[in-house]
Formats: sequence, C-alpha cells, structure tokens
Amino acid sequence: MLGNFSYVNATKLYFGDDSLKYLNDELPKYGDNVMLIYGGGSIKKNGIYDEVVAILKENGKNIIEDSGVMPNPTVEKLRDGVSKARENNVDLLLAVGGGSCCDYAKAVSVSINCDEDPWEKYYIRFEEPTCEIVPVGCVLTMAGTGSEMNAGAVITNHEQKLKIGHVFGDEVMPKFSILNPKYTMSLPKRQMTAGIYDIFNHICEQYFSGEDDNTSDYLAEGLMRSVIKSSLIAVDNPEDYEARSNIMWSATWALNTLISRGKSTDWMVHMLGQSAGAYTDATHGLTLAAVSLPYYRHILPYGVAKFKRFATEVWNVDPEGKSDEEVALEGLKAMEEWMEKIGVKVTLTDLGATEDMIEGIADGTIILEGGYKVLTRDEVVDIIKKSM
Ligand code: NZQ
Ligand code: ZN
Repeated sequence: MLGNFSYVNATKLYFGDDSLKYLNDELPKYGDNVMLIYGGGSIKKNGIYDEVVAILKENGKNIIEDSGVMPNPTVEKLRDGVSKARENNVDLLLAVGGGSCCDYAKAVSVSINCDEDPWEKYYIRFEEPTCEIVPVGCVLTMAGTGSEMNAGAVITNHEQKLKIGHVFGDEVMPKFSILNPKYTMSLPKRQMTAGIYDIFNHICEQYFSGEDDNTSDYLAEGLMRSVIKSSLIAVDNPEDYEARSNIMWSATWALNTLISRGKSTDWMVHMLGQSAGAYTDATHGLTLAAVSLPYYRHILPYGVAKFKRFATEVWNVDPEGKSDEEVALEGLKAMEEWMEKIGVKVTLTDLGATEDMIEGIADGTIILEGGYKVLTRDEVVDIIKKSM
C-alpha cells in the first residue's frame, strides 16, 4: 500500500541542446551580484564558461567567481565560499558543473546568513536552516547525482574522515536548472560511467525496500530499463545524443524525490560508499559500484521477492523451473555483467582503500533501518571486507 505523502518539486527545469538561452529568463528575477561557482576548469576547456559569462554580462550582472570546487567538496572550501558570498553580498549562487558544484552551492546558500559553523549545524547536528536562504541555480555539466532537482548537499570532512549528506527541505532546491545533454559529452568516459552507476544505484536504493505493489516501484523499473539501454549505447558511442539525453533525464528523475513517494527506502549502499569516499576521496559512483554486489548478495535472503522481481522485470530473467532465490541471484548476476560491460566493476582496493581503513570505514557508515535487513556492525565490516 502506498503510504500518505506530500509532493512538490520547486525546481524549474530547462532541458535540451538550446536550453542555456533560458538563463536570460531567469537572471532578471534576482539581484545583481551573482556568484559563479565552478570546479577545476572543465567548463573553461569546453567553452561553457564563456557562454555563461556572456549571458551574465548581457544581463548586467556583477560576477563574483568562486572556482576550484573539487569533486567531493570539502568543509574548508564550504567555509571559504560562505565568507566570499558574505563579503560580496551575493543575490544568486549559480553553479556550473556537476553534483559537486550544485551540492556546494546549496550548502553555501543555507550558511551565508547563519552565524553557526555549517559543518556542526548541518552535518553533525542535522539541523534545518533557520536563516534566510540565498537562491541557487544550476547549469549541469554531468549527469548522475540528481542534485539539479533535489535538496541534497554532500560535504566531506577529511580531518574527521566523514562524508555526510544532508537532505534539506524544498526551499533549498535549486530555483532553476539548465540541462543540456551536449554539455555532458566532454566528460571523460570514466566520469560518464561513474555517473551512470550513481543514477542506477539511486533507483536501487529506493526500490529495494518494502514488499507492496506500488506505482513508485513501477516507475523505478522503467527508469532502470532506460538507464541500462542508454548506458550500453553511450559507452560504445559517447556522442549519441539520444542516449546521453535519456541518461541525463533519468538522472534527474532517479533522485528528485518522486520514486520514493509513499514507500520506504534503503540507502545503505550510499552510507557504505560515502564512508569509503571519506577515506579514499574516490569518485562517488565508483565507491557505490564497489560495495553494491557484496551488499545486495548479503541482504538478498531477507528480500527475495523484490530481488526476484528485479531479475524478471529489469533484467528479463526467465523464472521457469527455478527457485525464487535462483531467479533473484540471476538478476544480480545480470547486473554484475552490465557493470562489467560499462566498466564500473571495481573494488574498494582499486579505489585506494587499504586493509587498515576497514574499521574506520565501518565506524563512518551510518546504519539506516529502511532496507530488508538492519545491519549489525559485524555485517558492515564483513561487507566492506568483501568489497576490497
Ligand atoms: O571540476 P571540473 O574541472 O569541472 O571537472 C569535473 C570533476 O572533475 C568533471 N566534469 C564535470 N562535468 C564535466 C567534467 N569534465 C568534463 N566535461 C564535463 N562536462 O567531472 C568530475 C566530477 O564532477 P562532480 O561534480 O564531482 O561529479 P558528480 O556529479 O558525480 O558529483 C559528485 C558529488 O555529489 C555528491 C557526491 O557524494 C559527490 O560529493 N552526491 C550528491 C547527491 C545529491 N545532491 O543528492 C546524491 C549523490 O548520491 C551524491 O552523494
Ligand atoms: Zn549517489
């Protein structure tokens, strides 16, 4: 049965290969001081920076540049960004990049008018913003996180060896996001496929929980089928616009709160992957890929019916003459083969984790209770060991 819920999504999207022009419609809604947030320079190489700056200038904006947002943005960078935004009295935070830039912009947005340290307030005490939030807009250049249409912001604290996500309320969602699939075509293949696995796993995290027949799970299956099909095309031909646009659109719907409505969710792969990420600083989607199969094989006996459904509905496994558990296991085997084909079958060791990190990664793994099995600490350690 679908549980009771409310649903709103406050982000306006502009999608397509000419979508940047709609920045002209959005900019007049905000004050003159725009903080232009970007990463390590990919947008300068592929020309997106020049296009965005030209539109900002045409609209008479004062541009305050905030570059160098690293993949897995750090708490130090966040504190610097907050100071810069305050000094320049910014009216709009415009993130041009992937999930890291969008997440970072949101974390800055809830901290500018707040006296307390953002790490302590939002990532240790998980409080909600009590100050005025500065609006955020995104020009997305990488498909994966769904950050363009959600209120999540993940920040890493290397000193404390913690990588933590805070899912804020609707008021923190970007006011608008511009999604041009062509912008994703300059991504290195490894980033493209890490993003694809991130999308797929966001869907799994919301699918592998609960046993009821509900619309959210059918939506999830449709999205998974689309991601599988388009990923195989994009890996062979990264220039295929149809595949890249399907991937970008699936990424947004995989994590904009729709497919979790009215049902419970799991999110343990992300808890394990994020903790591994705090130790290795590895690419987010790949940390998920490393822990997924050991985790899903571990919880499969507690959720056989759903894993069987995953096998037949997503991977077309023929159930004829097989036990439910055999069908379920064949589904995970099919997922593993797909991961191999797209090049994301990795271990935590491949990503730089070493044996001496196992206990720490386990300590940093937040244990959630929405999945088929609430893990004990020993089980967490066992899954991490199997992911090495
Ligand atoms: O920094 P630049 O030079 O721009 O390079 C980036 C970066 O090195 C590059 N890149 C992005 N677009 C490109 C490009 N290179 C060439 N051409 C382009 N068009 O790709 C690299 C990775 O970018 P990043 O933004 O870090 O990747 P992603 O979108 O995967 O974001 C990862 C962050 O988002 C968090 C992750 O934990 C991680 O910190 N997540 C946020 C979520 C949310 N808001 O809901 C949920 C996710 O589960 C995830 O945890
Ligand atoms: Zn993710």
